[in-house]
Formats: sequence, C-alpha cells, structure tokens
Amino acid sequence: MCYNLSKGNTMTDKLVRFGVSLEGELLRKFDAFIAAEGYSNRSKAIADLIRRDFVNDAFARGGAVAGAVTIVYDHHKREVVNKLLDIQHDHGTIIISAQHVHLDHDNCLEIIAVKGPGAKVKALADSLKSVRGVKHATLSVTTAGK
Ligand code: NI
Repeated sequence: MCYNLSKGNTMTDKLVRFGVSLEGELLRKFDAFIAAEGYSNRSKAIADLIRRDFVNDAFARGGAVAGAVTIVYDHHKREVVNKLLDIQHDHGTIIISAQHVHLDHDNCLEIIAVKGPGAKVKALADSLKSVRGVKHATLSVTTAGK
C-alpha cells in the first residue's frame, strides 16, 4: 500500500491519499447524493460521512459529544418555566450555555448548548421534551472536537 503525504504542520493534519474501489452504480448514486448536498469533491464528503459515524458511535456508546438541545414552549403553561429550569440545574455539569428567545407573545425558544457523555446528553434532552407545555424539542449531536 502506498501513501502520498501532503505537507502539514503535524501528523494529524497530514492528508493521506488512498484508493477506493466501488461498484459503478453505487459511485454514481454517491456522486449524485453529494452534489445535491453541495459538496464540490468526494474527499470532503467521505470525510464528513466518516466523522458522522464516529459521532453516532460515540453517542451510542455514551462517549463524549457536543450538541444543542432546542425546545419551544408556551411560557403561560402552568409550571413549565420552573420545571425546565429545575431540569437544567440538575444537568448543570453538561450545559455550557443557554439562550432564550421570546418568539412571540406566547412562545419561547431555548437553545441549550451541551457537552458531555452521550448518555447524559440524551437524558437531558429526554427530560426537557417530556415536560408538559413543551411543543417541540430537538437534539443535535456533533463531535466534541477530539
Ligand atoms: Ni420567552
């Protein structure tokens, strides 16, 4: 096997070129898929797919991830604000910051940035979305950077 290493400052940022053999039909579908996603070349698309699987694996195994929980709720609903605050205080070790936006007269949007073990991040998101008065909640998980 032969690697062509490009110039880089450290070992970790050196690009390694390698050959991949795929069925023609699979490659055609892949090229169409990444073009629709806005990629201009295969290398970035393949790297993103690999990192996505690493993030999913880390999350599934309870490893370190970062992410954002978003919730939309009607702040007039009885006790909803206090319940959401209680939950966030109980998970304070994994919450980096929280932003509150008053969407309109009734609805609030909160974006809660998190970093920590996947299991704890999921537990926080599950607790928040189950509160009565929360209309919708999402959890977006990404790499913690390692
Ligand atoms: Ni508000």
